[in-house]
This record gives sequence, structure tokens and C-alpha cells, in this order.
Amino acid sequence: MDLGLKERVAIITGSARGIGAETARFLAAEGAAVVITDLDASGAEQTASEIVAASGRAIGVRCDVRNEDDVKRMVGAAREAFGGVDVLVNNAGLVKDRTLLKMDEADWDIVIDVTLKGTFHCCRAVLPGMNETGWGRIVNIASRALFGNPGQTNYSSAKAGLVGFTRALSLEQARKGITVNAVAPGFIETEYLKSLPNYETIREGAKAKNAVTFAGQPADIAGAVAFLASEHARYITGTTLFVTGGRYG
Ligand SMILES: NC(=O)c1ccc[n+]([C@@H]2O[C@H](COP(=O)([O-])OP(=O)(O)OC[C@H]3O[C@@H](n4cnc5c(N)ncnc54)[C@H](O)[C@@H]3O)[C@@H](O)[C@H]2O)c1
Repeated sequence: MDLGLKERVAIITGSARGIGAETARFLAAEGAAVVITDLDASGAEQTASEIVAASGRAIGVRCDVRNEDDVKRMVGAAREAFGGVDVLVNNAGLVKDRTLLKMDEADWDIVIDVTLKGTFHCCRAVLPGMNETGWGRIVNIASRALFGNPGQTNYSSAKAGLVGFTRALSLEQARKGITVNAVAPGFIETEYLKSLPNYETIREGAKAKNAVTFAGQPADIAGAVAFLASEHARYITGTTLFVTGGRYG
């Protein structure tokens, strides 16, 4: 299936590694030019170089999505390199897990800010250009944790908020040729998770709660994002696609 992404330019935030990097590789393999952007500048450069070495089109740009000036610079670099921005994947995110009474304000703020303020800044930076061309795709990476996980009041709030943001913005943009959707991953085996000392325990616990027998891979999310970014998904907006191996809640 041709996803129709050959002439498209995609920004993927938090794409130095993990789900973001795999999504960027997937979109690049479909022919899109990709902007690898992350707080981790050298990781972003490295991922972009690997895509270029595999005959893709990519640039690496450092950006803290919480910072509006950084975001504007990053989107400017995308336009300069590739002429515009058609697809935005708001993937940057992090966890700072603690039960509520042990959670400090900084743990609350950083998780909410990277997820919600970051998405706010990035959408505001790309939408004027998308409105001009009359075509755009925004895909926000939420999480099954939006249903609530103990130790994650900050993360669950951020991801549930992102779903509300997705619906509200989809309604604002629907008549302008721009779709806004979310993908909510369940447990996904990233390199970072694999590096954790208690990884096997986390993995087996997550697998036991899945309806399917296996754990999700970054490519499972990349494929869902690429579909929502494609022309084939033009009639889908404001939805959240759960890529969770059948686990809800
Ligand atoms: N791995 C999973 O099981 C899983 C499950 C559900 C949802 N998710 C979501 O998927 C997304 C990617 O997760 P991942 O597992 O690949 O995580 P990851 O930690 O491997 O990658 C996240 C990237 O975001 C970057 N980042 C963090 N703060 C940033 C900021 N302020 N500005 C720019 N970049 C920043 C990090 O440097 C990192 O490279 C996240 O939004 C996460 O919440 C992951």
C-alpha cells in the first residue's frame, strides 16, 4: 500500500531514540523527509545520519519542546531544509513516577509541560503553514496510562489531557484539510526499557495483562502513526487509536 507520503515533510519530536526514532525511520522509508528533533542533540544527529545513510532524507535538530523559541527555530530549520511541514508527530514524553504524596512539584511540572505545553508549542508553530497549504496531519502520542496507573498521576493526567487536546484541535482544524489524532501505545519494548535492571519483571507483568501473547514493538506504533499521517486516513480525525495488544484500562 502506498501511503502517499513521498512528497511529505514530517517532524517527529523526541525522536533521537525509541518510538520516535522508529516512527521517523518508518516515515523516511515511505519517502517522507523527516526532522529528527530531541533535547538530546547528538542522539538526534545520530538518528538522522543513520536515516541518510539508508538513503532517506533527514536532518537532526536540537529542541526542547517546552521552549517556544526552540520550537520556532526547529520548525524554521525544517522549512529551510525541506520547504514546509506536512506532518507533526508529538512524541516527546517522559515519566517521573511517584505516588502522589511523594511526588514533588518539579516531577509534576516536567511531565505535564513536555507533554501538553510541548504539544501546544509545536502545533502552534506548524499550523499556519498547514493552513496555507490546506493539508496537514498531527498525531499525538498518548498512552494507555491515560486510564490511570498508580504512581503516575502526573503522566496519566498529561496523557488524558493530550486526548482532550486532540479532540478540541481536531474540531478547530477539520474544515481546513488537517486531521488531528492520537495513538495510545500500551507496553512497547524500547531499547531504553530493555536497559533497565528490572526489565524482565516489567515486561512479563505487562505481557500478562495484554490480551495478545506478546509485547509491542516500536514498529507497531510507527505503523499506526504512518497510517494516520497518510492520505488513507483523511476521514479519521479526533480519534485515539489504542495500540495496546488488546489491553484497555
Ligand atoms: N515505551 C512505552 O511502553 C510507551 C507506552 C506508552 C506511551 N509511550 C509514549 O511514547 C513516547 C515515546 O516513548 P519512548 O518509550 O520511545 O521513550 P524514550 O524515553 O525512549 O524517548 C523519548 C524521547 O523524548 C525526548 N524528550 C524528553 N523530553 C524532551 C523535551 N523537553 N523536548 C524534546 N525531547 C524530549 C527524550 O530525550 C527521548 O529521546 C512518549 O510520549 C511516551 O510517553 C511509550
